[in-house]
Amino acid sequence: MKEELLRKNVELSNFLHNYYGEEYPKFVEVMGKRLRPSIRVNSLKIEREELRRRLISKGFKLVPVPFYEDGFVVEELPGEIGNTVEHFVGYYYVQGLSSMIPPVLLNPAPGEKVLDIASAPGSKATQMAQMMKNTGVIVANDIDVERIKALSNNIDRMGVLNTIVTLEQGYRFGQLYPDTFDRVLIDAPCSALGTLNKNMEIVKWWGREKIGRLMGAQKSLILSGFDALKPGGLMVYSTCTITPEENEYIVNYLLKERNNAEILDFQLPGVVFRSALIHWERFYFHPSIAKCKRIETHHNPDFEGFFIALVKKLPS
Ligand SMILES: C[S@@+](CC[C@H](N)C(=O)[O-])C[C@H]1O[C@@H](n2cnc3c(N)ncnc32)[C@H](O)[C@@H]1O
Repeated sequence: MKEELLRKNVELSNFLHNYYGEEYPKFVEVMGKRLRPSIRVNSLKIEREELRRRLISKGFKLVPVPFYEDGFVVEELPGEIGNTVEHFVGYYYVQGLSSMIPPVLLNPAPGEKVLDIASAPGSKATQMAQMMKNTGVIVANDIDVERIKALSNNIDRMGVLNTIVTLEQGYRFGQLYPDTFDRVLIDAPCSALGTLNKNMEIVKWWGREKIGRLMGAQKSLILSGFDALKPGGLMVYSTCTITPEENEYIVNYLLKERNNAEILDFQLPGVVFRSALIHWERFYFHPSIAKCKRIETHHNPDFEGFFIALVKKLPS
C-alpha cells in the first residue's frame, strides 16, 4: 500500500531505489511499520525511578535506552502516550530515539553557553536544558512563529529556566555572535525522508527543486552556526533525512569554506550507525566525511532515519 503511494512520485521512487540498492525491500518493509514510542524523563522535575514507578503502576512497560539514561522505549502503554497527568505536568517528553542523540553527543555542561539555531518545538533544547541542570544559557532560535509558540509551551511545561527564545534568521548568528558559544546545534530544516513511516505527506512534495531550496538554507545555517562557535567548541549538524545533498554535501561545504572545522568520530551503545558516504552520484566528498553517521530504521527498528555530524572548531 505504502509502496504504491511511493511509486506516484517517480523522482522519489528513483532516488530511493538508487540510494538503497539491494536493501530497498528491507527499507519498504519497515516503512510500513509504526515505531514504538519513546520518552525522555524530565530530570528537572522528577527522579527517573519515581516516574518509572508511576508509569508502570498505570500499565506502561518501559525499556531503558542504552545510550541515554533518561530515555525509555515504551513497549506497552495503556492509552495515548501524551494523555497522562505526568505528561501534562512535564514529567516526561515524547521524543524519538534518533532525536535524543545530538544533545547526547554535544553533552553541554552546566554553566555553558549553547546555541540551538533551529530549535522549535524544542525537543533537543529542553533535553539540553536538563543536561545543563537549568544553568548557563541556551539561545533557542527559530524562524517560524507558530512553531515558536510550541517551543515556548514546551519550555514552560518542562520547567526550563535557562533558555532565551529568539525569532531570527539562523543565518545571522555567525555575524552577530562570532566565537561565542561552547556548543552549537544545527538541527536543520530538511526533506524529512527519515520520517516517511509516520508522514507519507512527504511523497506529495518531495523533489529536486525543493531539495535545492533546502540546501541553500542548510549551507547558510551550517556556516553561521560554525562561526558562532568558540574555538575548541563542539557543533552537531543533524537532519531527519537521507538525501546526501542535504547531509554529506552540506558538511563537505563547511570543510571547504572553513579550514578550522574538524569532523569527529563517535559511536554509541545500542545504535547501529552506518558511515556517511564519501561518493554520491557526481559528488566526491572529503574522506573525513565518512566519520559522520547515518541511522537507518531497517538497521535500528525503534529509530527514525537520521544523519549526524559532530564537528570541532579548531583555533584558526
Ligand atoms: C528539524 S526542525 C527543528 C526541530 C527541533 N530542533 C527539535 O528538536 O524540536 C527545523 C526547524 O528549522 C526552522 N528553520 C527553518 N529555516 C530557518 C532559518 N532560516 N532560521 C532558523 N530556523 C529555521 C524550522 O522552522 C523548523 O522548526
